[in-house]
Amino acid sequence: MTVAPPAGSGIGVRVEQVYRTFPGGVAAVDGVDLRIAPGSFVALVGPSGCGKSTLLRIIAGLDTATRGRVELSPASGQVHASRAPIAYVFQDAHLLPWRSVLDNAALPLELSGVRERERYAAAREVLAQVGLGEFTSRYPAELSGGMRMRVSLARALVTRPRLLLMDEPFGALDELTRGRLDEQLRALWHELGMTVLFVTHSLSEAAWLAERVVVFSPRPGRVVLDRTLELPHQRVPALRLEPAFAREVQALSEALEQGGA
Ligand SMILES: Nc1ncnc2c1ncn2[C@@H]1O[C@H](COP(=O)(O)OP(=O)(O)OP(=O)(O)O)[C@@H](O)[C@H]1O
Ligand SMILES: [Mg+2]
Repeated sequence: MTVAPPAGSGIGVRVEQVYRTFPGGVAAVDGVDLRIAPGSFVALVGPSGCGKSTLLRIIAGLDTATRGRVELSPASGQVHASRAPIAYVFQDAHLLPWRSVLDNAALPLELSGVRERERYAAAREVLAQVGLGEFTSRYPAELSGGMRMRVSLARALVTRPRLLLMDEPFGALDELTRGRLDEQLRALWHELGMTVLFVTHSLSEAAWLAERVVVFSPRPGRVVLDRTLELPHQRVPALRLEPAFAREVQALSEALEQGGA
């Protein structure tokens, strides 16, 4: 588990004409088609209630489409020596308060029966990667919100997922902390070679993080813009001040407005 995984081994996702209607008739997702290339970083944005979380849950296999299908390639059941197929990061950190940072981060490996020595080594490594190397013996109540989110991210990364699904993970954090976590996440994405699908309400976060942004209409969610960003691959913090960045955010903002019109 401590060996760095090969880069470029992310899972590709194909969403084909996916509809999801809940009992009672609420149509949440309305015929979405998406192809996500293995190893890419894609942000999903759209108004509250447009079905982003529903779509993410369907991709993760936590919910089922009413119509249409989702294909992962390679299929998530396909054995890969040291990597889990999918990990999910929620908006709240959902840590276990009675467990230390180390034991929270090691939990997925413990549940899959990895030996103590190995799982602690992997958890320490990933906690260091998210900047929490000094905090392994602390408890969640002793951490700030940003630190708790980093533990949650470490717990997702400890299995070396090939597809990382993130649902507004940094939404509750202040601007500065969110920016720093975005930087760490982008660096980890480079390093680990995984596919990332990232839901956010922040257009500037989407533009700074992702290579491609998909904008959804209000419920029921349809794709109103699928844009590959014309921004440098190397994302530095100062990019947020560049005119090219402002233009991308503007294009996303217009699509959101038009989608809601
Ligand atoms: N289990 C469920 N049962 C019934 N309706 C649901 C269920 N889950 C979601 N919905 C409805 O489906 C719609 C889409 O919900 P979803 O959570 O996917 O939106 P979202 O885009 O993630 O919104 P937000 O940005 O606020 O998180 C909403 O109208 C919601 O009420
Ligand atoms: Mg949601």
